[in-house]
Amino acid sequence: MFFNLTDEQLMIQTMVREFSRKVIATTAAERDKTKEFPAENLKKMGELGLMGMMIPTEYNGEGADTVSYVLALSEIAYSCASTAVVMSVHNSIVCESISHFGTDEQKKKFLFPLTDAEIIGAFALTEPHAGSDPVDQITTAEKDGDHYVLNGTKRFITSGKNCGLVIVTVKTDEKAKHKGISAFIVEQGTPGMKVGHTEDKMGLRASDTTDLIFENCRVPAENMLGKEGEGFKIAMTGLDGGRIGIAAQSIGVAQAACDAAVKYAKQRSQFGKKISKFQAIRFTIADMVTEIEAARQLMFSAAAMKDRGEKYTLQASIAKLYASEMVNRVTAKALQIHGGYGFTKDYPVERFYRDARVFTIYEGTSEIQRVVISNNVLKDKRRP
Ligand code: CAA
Repeated sequence: MFFNLTDEQLMIQTMVREFSRKVIATTAAERDKTKEFPAENLKKMGELGLMGMMIPTEYNGEGADTVSYVLALSEIAYSCASTAVVMSVHNSIVCESISHFGTDEQKKKFLFPLTDAEIIGAFALTEPHAGSDPVDQITTAEKDGDHYVLNGTKRFITSGKNCGLVIVTVKTDEKAKHKGISAFIVEQGTPGMKVGHTEDKMGLRASDTTDLIFENCRVPAENMLGKEGEGFKIAMTGLDGGRIGIAAQSIGVAQAACDAAVKYAKQRSQFGKKISKFQAIRFTIADMVTEIEAARQLMFSAAAMKDRGEKYTLQASIAKLYASEMVNRVTAKALQIHGGYGFTKDYPVERFYRDARVFTIYEGTSEIQRVVISNNVLKDKRRP
């Protein structure tokens, strides 16, 4: 690891690594089969301070920096990518959005149970016809006295079924494009909000992904997050942080796949010697390790910029794009090193391969990251 980590950051990494490999890893393969939500493990993660890491201590968080957070998230992803995505959405797009844009009352009311992992947070931007282009969303909120009435359907919501609250973006002004979008905090159990279809996915199977349906759902006006019309900005700001988290998840899964491939190559013999002696395997391992390290530096660089309070949209998208594409290459290579056994459920590498597939899709596809990167480069007046 070339990035200069502080003693505290290294301590957090060691603590989470031990916990993750002792507690999280043991049930990951089983959960992949049963799709059982890791509720108990998330509670334990709350006790360890992993469910509100970057939230100030006055609101019950750990006040940790983003570098510590991505180290922790990578360690969780190493053992179970399903648990990691729940941790990621909860910490960054949910807790951080409330911390940055919430009123003091909202922070007191919602951040305490969230950081304790008494409740899990979800974030609902996507709709059936509006994924990459969220400005095209049609879920509405109409003011009615001291409430807003929400109507519409949200799709592909991580933790939709298991969340205690969800940040929902809605149109409060149909004509105002992105400035007509507002955000609300909606508590699970609010009349008029119901969980719809649960997806049957190829990976991340222990993390539920659902529709959330709003039918005349009355939400108190005091639950609006930020000001009216600020919903798109809140979502984009949250996704900048979230995208560093997807890089961290990618690196965790890639490291797990690479370690599994190295272990297998040292055990498996063909043509009278360990396959780790063959140059084809050694060079594949070299390429995997190089790509993982490159992604790690991009992740650290984006996280450190965020910690320094600099604008980091470009770096977050670069880290997300590279790391998510990297993990798909690395898990494919790790599976190839396992030969026929890699294609079976006897080895974890097939789970890593399936889990990795969504990383180039959620929280902005690779194509959207290229839009963000090229837009930022082309509008930068300091560049030629
Ligand atoms: N931070 C703050 N504000 C931002 C921003 C950012 N990173 N990016 C854009 N904005 C603001 C702009 O400043 C602009 O505001 P003003 O007019 O006030 O200046 C406004 O947003 C519109 O900007 P653009 O014209 O650039 O917006 P656009 O409509 O062209 O869209 C986009 C830009 C990058 C394509 C965006 O739509 C996008 O990121 N799309 C992908 C959405 C996405 O990632 N969805 C994933 C779903 S969430 C998920 O997967 C979670 C889960 O559960 C795992």
